[in-house]
Amino acid sequence: MRPDRNELIRMLSLQDQDELDDLYKQAYEIKKQQVGTKVYFRGIIELSNICSKNCFYCGIRSGNPDFKRYTISMQEALREAKWCFDQRYGSLVIQAGERTDEAWVDFITELVAGIKELSGGKLGMTLSLGEQSEEVYARWFEAGAHRYLLRIETTNQELYKSLHPADHSLEYRLKCLRSLRKVGYQVGTGVMIGLPGQSMADIADDILFFFDEDVDMLGMGPYIPHQKTPLKHLVDSFDPELALQLGLKLIAVCRIALKDINIATTTALQALHPEGRELGLLAGANVLMPNITNTEYRDGYQLYEGKPCLDENADQCINCLSRRIASIGESIGFDEWGDSLHFFKRKQ
Ligand code: 5AD
Ligand code: SF4
Ligand code: FES
Repeated sequence: MRPDRNELIRMLSLQDQDELDDLYKQAYEIKKQQVGTKVYFRGIIELSNICSKNCFYCGIRSGNPDFKRYTISMQEALREAKWCFDQRYGSLVIQAGERTDEAWVDFITELVAGIKELSGGKLGMTLSLGEQSEEVYARWFEAGAHRYLLRIETTNQELYKSLHPADHSLEYRLKCLRSLRKVGYQVGTGVMIGLPGQSMADIADDILFFFDEDVDMLGMGPYIPHQKTPLKHLVDSFDPELALQLGLKLIAVCRIALKDINIATTTALQALHPEGRELGLLAGANVLMPNITNTEYRDGYQLYEGKPCLDENADQCINCLSRRIASIGESIGFDEWGDSLHFFKRKQ
């Protein structure tokens, strides 16, 4: 059933802590019934911080000249993927800034095929590499990727315009999401919450968009102002506690409204609170994306400030994470792809 817009706005507007706790509990019950309490891991390889886009909120935008750009070598990326496979993570995510040139498309195709080969086809693969043509999406799909994340960021046209240069287009992004679906990917999208000028009605419309587009996965998080962006004036008035609350509310309301999809508890939550990601799981998320990028590169991938685990290497993180997940009574879905149940129901 299509969620009721007023009811979405009501839930999103809750502020009283007791009412919020009830909301998180309600979402957790629905999560338990619909998808269970196994957390699926996707190790993230942050392959490159080179991006041809210039989104006003993002720390790695092309207009930020202040730090070194890197791209991990094929060999290093394959080594990280192998590590992920050996740790019995079911899947990984390959994430990078947006590039559409031929050399990049070939590099990714080869990498995807290489990971497919080294894991005997066992490691699930999600790509998060921005807007591409349908042909490119199809090439990567044929090489072995089966899930794709492309956040719509916001479905409010005016807001989208105010946060992006004139040549970034919401329509094109939507077209990309539809191409991904057509090619056969499980499709994930998401938005940021707490953007300047954004209302709860906007977020309710975003959630209705997720429903109408029938998305399989969501990765969403609070907006965190970054000093080296055109929105740096927002840094001083930023309230991390409020941002955390917004992020958790968004997860909970999406779980309640959309039920059986995969929802990620994002690193942005942990940047705001030491237990941010566990709180995300308790508010209804069921996917966690540990960073497996070599620490030597992590400084370079700060889309927002305060990103956690900058100094912890992947094996330190996994121990820490396992403890964290056990502490809230959940288990880890080792060796499983943990595909979106929603996807399979739709396919039937
Ligand atoms: N705060 C929070 N999330 C951000 N992203 C980019 N910049 C920020 C920020 N300052 C998110 C966008 C993008 C994803 C890769 O990171 O939603 O899709
Ligand atoms: Fe590039 Fe994504 Fe950052 Fe925009 S949000 S500048 S597309 S990495
Ligand atoms: Fe990275 Fe705890 S999750 S060190």
